[in-house]
Amino acid sequence: MPTFRPLFLMALALAAPVAFGQTSSKLKVGLMLPYTGTYAALGTAIENGFRLYVAEQGGKLGGREVEYVKVDDESDPSKATDNVNKLVKRDNVDVLVGSVHSGVAMAMAKVAKDTGTLLIVPNAGADAVTGAMCAPNIFRSSFSNWQPGYAMGEVVAKKGHKKVVTITWKYAAGDESVKSFKEAFEKGGGKVVKELNLPFPNVEFQALLTEIAAAKPDAVYTFFAGGGAVKFVKDYAAAGLKKSIPLYGAGFITDGTLEAQGADAADLMTTLHYADSLGTPRDNSFRLSYAKTYKLQPDVYAVQGYDAAQILGIGLVATKGDTLKKAEFAAAVEKAKIDSPRGAFTLSKAHNPVQDIYLRQVVGKENKLIGIASKALTDPARGCKS
Ligand code: BEZ
Repeated sequence: MPTFRPLFLMALALAAPVAFGQTSSKLKVGLMLPYTGTYAALGTAIENGFRLYVAEQGGKLGGREVEYVKVDDESDPSKATDNVNKLVKRDNVDVLVGSVHSGVAMAMAKVAKDTGTLLIVPNAGADAVTGAMCAPNIFRSSFSNWQPGYAMGEVVAKKGHKKVVTITWKYAAGDESVKSFKEAFEKGGGKVVKELNLPFPNVEFQALLTEIAAAKPDAVYTFFAGGGAVKFVKDYAAAGLKKSIPLYGAGFITDGTLEAQGADAADLMTTLHYADSLGTPRDNSFRLSYAKTYKLQPDVYAVQGYDAAQILGIGLVATKGDTLKKAEFAAAVEKAKIDSPRGAFTLSKAHNPVQDIYLRQVVGKENKLIGIASKALTDPARGCKS
């Protein structure tokens, strides 16, 4: 028998097929990451980690099957606003995940704040993201630039070094990493005597290495990452500085890079919220599963991607998959203990991880755990009003 459907019902069905919380449709995750340039490997590791956690949940978060829309942001802040607007306005993603570069992440945070789109930052440390730009819909699974820099400032001061030269890229991540190192180091009685930098992602280090040799500091502190970190560590050794002036850094200088750096990275000491030899059951099972899936060893970026998916999953379980229930999402994440391979952590009020910062040393192909440089270190969230 033919069924009768009033015309107005048919029209309604056509006009509004996927409105409201859309909890039965697929969850569209907008991955905005670098897939080219000096940070390309970091973007891939983050995506691998994210996908691994989702796969472990049977491909679903909060009951919704996950689908991905990807953009290569090229670590280029000048293209970031257009890129993120494409994901939000053209592709209608439910959540943004990105990025690696602090300048790109600040553009993403601005759009997230303006549009109310959920944003999870799986690397970029820009202090402002969980500082002046903090918002109920913005979360970070990684670190603030302040955290590893501050922890290393304390370590280097305790070692008794008095006179330090810093060297980094001239953009938010480098500037903030050096600033927090200096804050702790000078509080501990040391003095930063020279701050050297070059534009991102330039790797012509020679003239600056000559300046370091001439300044004869007790030690050098550095922030570089990805391809730039590989080149810097090799050039530092080739210039003969490794033998005479100890090099310390935020852990990105040796994370995901040791294969390429080889013996030139041996013994380097760094601070970071992850190490290759934590040896906990949680980390062991993560490492095994990552290595099996990707035929690669994980690094800090893979962990941050994995934890970005965990944070999203925690929020979506609470809202039954509805990304528009932002207050419920935030409340669930704020009270959660995130079961990370790095060790369990919570999020601060400003939504930045409160976490242990490890002291590591390069031994062979590993960033070996030496100890905890700073226990449950909380970013000061300067300027956050929420
Ligand atoms: C940043 O731009 O915030 C960043 C990039 C690579 C590693 C760590 C931080």
